[in-house]
Amino acid sequence: MPSAAKQVLSLAHFVILLLSLGAASTSLGLIQANTNNGMLCFFFLTYSQVIADDAGPTFNMPTCKLSIASAAIATTCLALLTAIELISVLYQTNIKTLVAKILQIGFFAVSILFLFITTVVVAAGWSQTCATFKNMTTTQPSTDFSFQCTGKLQAYIIEPNGAEFIAAAVCAGVGAVLTFGALGFFIVKQMRSDDDEYGTLISKN
Ligand SMILES: *[C@@H]1O[C@H](CO)[C@@H](O)[C@H](O)[C@H]1NC(C)=O
Repeated sequence: MPSAAKQVLSLAHFVILLLSLGAASTSLGLIQANTNNGMLCFFFLTYSQVIADDAGPTFNMPTCKLSIASAAIATTCLALLTAIELISVLYQTNIKTLVAKILQIGFFAVSILFLFITTVVVAAGWSQTCATFKNMTTTQPSTDFSFQCTGKLQAYIIEPNGAEFIAAAVCAGVGAVLTFGALGFFIVKQMRSDDDEYGTLISKN
């Protein structure tokens, strides 16, 4: 493959990885900010849980910790992949050892899996909570408590923003799709460069 085409492929791969990294870290930041770092969990709240905990929901904390951990793992893997790609763009080298390639594919797979988990947990968790609060505001209308799934949830120590939970789920989902695209790029690049490297491999052995 001509080296110009190779560079374009590398650059495109790098940009997609950078976008995935941005999406994953945005998702992580939004979840952390709206759960007080996992200490207050507004996911999967049921009616009985809401009325039982005035100080702020400490229920279902494992689901919040899971979504934070998932987004953090994906962000870390994507940061590593982006750094590796940056080095290969800057120095126009390609990592050639099989172990390194397998490791990179592992990072891709882990990123995609954990971004998917983040998407599902946040989307399902906030949907359940939305349904509960919507039900409460319609069955017991009160003037001092209005609720919207995309608005701020007042009357707690922190005021989680529904729109930000939705944005966190969307970012994680978009990040997963982009990472999948980046994995495709990576595989194409490997297959193409194998043609070039085959000769050097044989001559080395
Ligand atoms: C809806 O709210 C009422 C009280 O406002 C409660 O008794 C009922 O259990 C709630 N239903 C659900 C599905 O949360």
